Amino acid sequence: MKEVKVALLGAGTVGSAVVRLLQANAEEFNLRAGARLRVIGIAVRNLEAPRDPAIDRALLTTDAHAIIAQADIVIELMGGIEPAREYILAAFAAGASVVTGNKALLAEHGPELYDAAARAGVDLYYEAAVGGAVPVVYGLRESLAGDRVTHILGIVNGTTNYILDEMTTNGESFDAAVKKAQELGYAEADPSADVDGYDAAAKCAILASLAFHTRVQLSDVHTHGIRDITPEMIASAGRGGYVVKLVASAKRRANGIELYVGPTLIPAQHPLATVHGAYNAIVVEGEAADRLMFYGPGAGGNPTATAVLSDLVAAAHHRVHGGLAPRELAYGELPILPPAQARSRFQLSMDVADHVGVLSEVTGTFARHNVSISGVTQESPTADHLCRLTVTTHEALQADVEATIADLSAAAGPATVSTASFVRVEVA
Ligand code: NDP
Ligand code: HSE
Repeated sequence: MKEVKVALLGAGTVGSAVVRLLQANAEEFNLRAGARLRVIGIAVRNLEAPRDPAIDRALLTTDAHAIIAQADIVIELMGGIEPAREYILAAFAAGASVVTGNKALLAEHGPELYDAAARAGVDLYYEAAVGGAVPVVYGLRESLAGDRVTHILGIVNGTTNYILDEMTTNGESFDAAVKKAQELGYAEADPSADVDGYDAAAKCAILASLAFHTRVQLSDVHTHGIRDITPEMIASAGRGGYVVKLVASAKRRANGIELYVGPTLIPAQHPLATVHGAYNAIVVEGEAADRLMFYGPGAGGNPTATAVLSDLVAAAHHRVHGGLAPRELAYGELPILPPAQARSRFQLSMDVADHVGVLSEVTGTFARHNVSISGVTQESPTADHLCRLTVTTHEALQADVEATIADLSAAAGPATVSTASFVRVEVA
């Protein structure tokens, strides 16, 4: 059996699990790859840090370039932009294939990396970048090459799904749910990448690029996190038959692609509504295939390592038997639509003064902005004579909904709106 030399960059949560699983099932992986997979070195920052017992300390180095130069395949599991980008480009320059789980890097510098891999005639695999163990990258790139994808709607961040689920099922506050997520190792000490939606936005960009054969970057994704979600909002959504989820949405429209990450009302009967804990689920709609759902553990060492190892097996097989993974295809060149041009159903909440004519003024403002209402609920007035109005719309242009809110907030008549906010609503 030929030998394939593997350099591993990073021995943290995922890197350690890769080594552990590779050792535990070495013979089987070798047979699948058609090659003997040998880890020739593991680059880390700190040689003295405690390590998983599976890690052979003799393989540890702080000189990543030295092991990249000798490798057939480089597995990048360090995270961050630099030096991960520099190392991956060095790997391609040295003729090595690369396996990575680095969604942040791909969402910012994907085109540069895809082009460099193509020029070098080597593979760039990144199944672990979205959905952990869930094979959604393969699904979009290969299985769905036989269809035309119209919409991707996914829970792609396990940490925020856990937080919102805790708030929904146990009535926890946002802060208490974040603390629990940190204790369980889901959320980092600085939970910003997850709770502010950037991790999901990076994954959204990767999925949209694959689905629509168009180069989509992190900055193209209109992103809103979950910091302002309260248990009251969740309870109110529940009374209306909805669950609040942080979703990534990428939709093909006649005039371009709509991209969005943010809290969304999901009808209780929608398949995403029952995704609990730190699980991920991605619903993909194709013109011919109709609706598919990819579901499973979206993070964690072992689940994510399985995605890395499947890429390793494929890349090693190519090194020995020839062939390359499907190339990035960007022929679609679809325009990215600005958020104001996005169309969706929305739910608007506002506190209005409890006066004669308020409802007619509010609904009149919606009508003037061409926003069609599908339902209105009004809660009993509070002691200070304010009523909570919740207005759900039919599909409307976001710009029109924003203009409606601006007008309502500026109104000086009976419908003095003190607070107003809107959230997207998905259909079942
Ligand atoms: P960790 O922070 O646990 O591990 C990072 C590793 O990279 C550490 O071993 C660290 O070394 C090493 N490292 C960091 N910077 C350098 C550097 N400049 N030079 C050499 N080594 C370096 O990260 P994870 O394992 O959690 O994540 C790895 C990648 O996988 C990321 O891109 C992440 O987004 C992605 N991913 C992670 C998932 C998860 O559930 N954790 C899920 C899906 C994807 P040292 O140990 O010495 O500090
Ligand atoms: N922090 C991510 C999540 C895991 O919570 O889903 C890595 O993709």
